[in-house]
Amino acid sequence: MSCYSVPMNPLRVLAIETSCDETAVSLLEQTVTASGETVITVLGNALSSQIDIHAQYGGVFPALAKRAHAEHIIPLLMDCLEQADMLIPHNTDKQPVVLSSEIEQILSALDAKEATLKTHISAFFSTYQAPAISHIAVTVGPGLAPALWVGVNTATTLAQVWSIQAQRTIPVIPINHMEGHVVTATYQQAADKKTYTRTAMQLPALALLVSGGHTELIHIEQLGIYIKIGQTRDDAIGEAFDKVARMLSLTYPGGPKVSALAAQFRESGITQIITLPQPMLHSGDYDFSHSGIKTAALYTIRDLTEQNTRELTDTEKMMIACAFEDAAIAVLVHKTVRACQEYHSGTVIVGGGVAGNSYLRTQLTTVIAAKIPHCTVLFPELWLATDNAIMIGLAAMGQLLAGTAQTPEISTIVADGNLSL
Ligand code: KG4
Ligand code: ZN
Repeated sequence: MSCYSVPMNPLRVLAIETSCDETAVSLLEQTVTASGETVITVLGNALSSQIDIHAQYGGVFPALAKRAHAEHIIPLLMDCLEQADMLIPHNTDKQPVVLSSEIEQILSALDAKEATLKTHISAFFSTYQAPAISHIAVTVGPGLAPALWVGVNTATTLAQVWSIQAQRTIPVIPINHMEGHVVTATYQQAADKKTYTRTAMQLPALALLVSGGHTELIHIEQLGIYIKIGQTRDDAIGEAFDKVARMLSLTYPGGPKVSALAAQFRESGITQIITLPQPMLHSGDYDFSHSGIKTAALYTIRDLTEQNTRELTDTEKMMIACAFEDAAIAVLVHKTVRACQEYHSGTVIVGGGVAGNSYLRTQLTTVIAAKIPHCTVLFPELWLATDNAIMIGLAAMGQLLAGTAQTPEISTIVADGNLSL
């Protein structure tokens, strides 16, 4: 791998995310203001969610995810470039041009596994010019391997063909999806939702990563250097939310719906009669286990409904949602606070889909303010908590600015479903 030094000004990164059930493409530009402040502007942002496709399976179905990514990624790329005024045809009447044999040879590598992508991307190259970008950033893991590969194949093909068409090298920066979640919370969004500046923060920091695939605590001595100090031993927190949602007949992704029911219950003033266990609360380490709470919820439902002989009432559903959220969030908050104290963290960074959970937001902020007042808690903007490509672009920009971005040989860039921070 080669270490990349900051080149062309402005830096413009096209970012691609396909790790799970969101296909997303964004274009970010970095500029330095007269006062010396670095500002990142989102020039284009396009996202297509597959929630409707997967809802019937109660979770993400990898083969369907891959197919939907391959269908949507090039239309999303075009949408993103159009927003940035960079969708420029080869000629005014948008007549396709003949691609060179060198480009055809690059495209032929897609024949075996990416027939749909090949059709879309070939038509794109014959109609549109290479945009004025400096880099392509792509999620290489963790996630569903077939889904990740669509993004990786798109990024590497775009880089190779655009490098020929633009007659300058456009490198690819492989990005860890979880770094995207970490970095997003460290940026502040302006009112226009398009410009971002870095929030001043105290290091070392502690990242709490909570998503459909992860529950992790990461010690960050310096941005870019991550030490995992704890993780779930079974289900991820988002997965547990989704499973409890299914028990309550709520559709995927159920996390926000369970949380909404829990909030309704807290506001109702009805007395809570259900408590669920808080697994590994006092285990002495920073690991988690969420499957125990989920199983306890299942038994509680069985008991309440007299061995499933009747439906849960609406109040019972709210009660269970609330008991689950109380128990799950209490463990997250307790362990995060303890890790923060032990590692003398000046900042807690929360990332991943569950970072959008309003109960986690208020509980963690309140407990940290009371117990560790010098510590700041950073959450991502709500709309950037779940998967998107801006987070991948922000991670790449951070690496480019720090001089740590890697731009490996195209042929060595591979998807890795189990990639770890
Ligand atoms: O980060 P993300 O978009 O995808 C992964 O990388 O996994 O996270 C999605 C997960 C889903 O399990 C979803 O149910 C959960 O985050 N989630 C929530 C909330 N918003 C999303 N869980 C609880 N409360 C929320 N408000
Ligand atoms: Zn994610």
